[in-house]
Amino acid sequence: MGIEVRPLTPQIGAEVFGVDVTKPMGNADFDAVHQALLDHSIIVFREQPLNDDQLMGLGRQFGPLIVHPFLQNDGPNPEVIHIKREPQDEAIVGQEWHSDTTCIDTPPLAGVLHCIETPKAGGDTLFASQYKAYETLSDGMKAMLDGMIAVHNDTRVAGPQSGVNGKRANRVRDDAEWKPSSAEHPVVRTHPETGRKGLFVNISYTRHFKGMTEEESAPLLNFLYRHAVRPEFTCRVQWRPGSTVIWDNRCVKHLAVHDCGPHRREMHRVQVAGDRPY
Ligand code: SIN
Repeated sequence: MGIEVRPLTPQIGAEVFGVDVTKPMGNADFDAVHQALLDHSIIVFREQPLNDDQLMGLGRQFGPLIVHPFLQNDGPNPEVIHIKREPQDEAIVGQEWHSDTTCIDTPPLAGVLHCIETPKAGGDTLFASQYKAYETLSDGMKAMLDGMIAVHNDTRVAGPQSGVNGKRANRVRDDAEWKPSSAEHPVVRTHPETGRKGLFVNISYTRHFKGMTEEESAPLLNFLYRHAVRPEFTCRVQWRPGSTVIWDNRCVKHLAVHDCGPHRREMHRVQVAGDRPY
């Protein structure tokens, strides 16, 4: 049986069937899965429960894994974050539209997220194509943004001033030794494999344009944040235990929907190391 790729929308997302991701893929299967990721930006595998060793193995087929700079880890493998939403939680990991970990010089190439437990309804994840976000801007806006640099850091999402700890099960570093991570990235990045351009600013990490204040940057950033997640650029994944999603963090934003009510949700995630955006 060959691999079947079923698009979720014309712009972004596909379910992939006919490949076993619980063990290392052969070259032909990996090439097909890799191509599906490049073509659809996020891919979904169904009904294949993975333990953390298998999840790390799947991620490592795309490249080395990183250890997250500020999310605290309750499992034995530093590369695997157990993302938990407990019934009393007021906040969850990833509840605003973001690209992952853009506070570092080389943000992850991909996220690999595996569902352990989810409510019967709710707890979905939304993804938005940042290729489409860029391509649908006017020529004037594209010309202005091309060449601009944005300053990113993790002060909104980590450290004592973020106010994150106490509101949710997943704690972030807020110890005395914690120091913000900061990086500068192009506002429009070119995907190193597809050559397509995409928007690369996000609410969680981007603070301002280089050479401008936060106040000066805010109106344009706020426009870009709204534009970047228009419904026609998005797809929605409804999880089931045993589902796995791989998203291309170089051209996709995502958001965990905070609607689990009194229910638990648990996902395990690894991140594949990326390169410096250009
Ligand atoms: C994340 O932001 O990586 C978490 C997404 C999710 O739990 O759905």
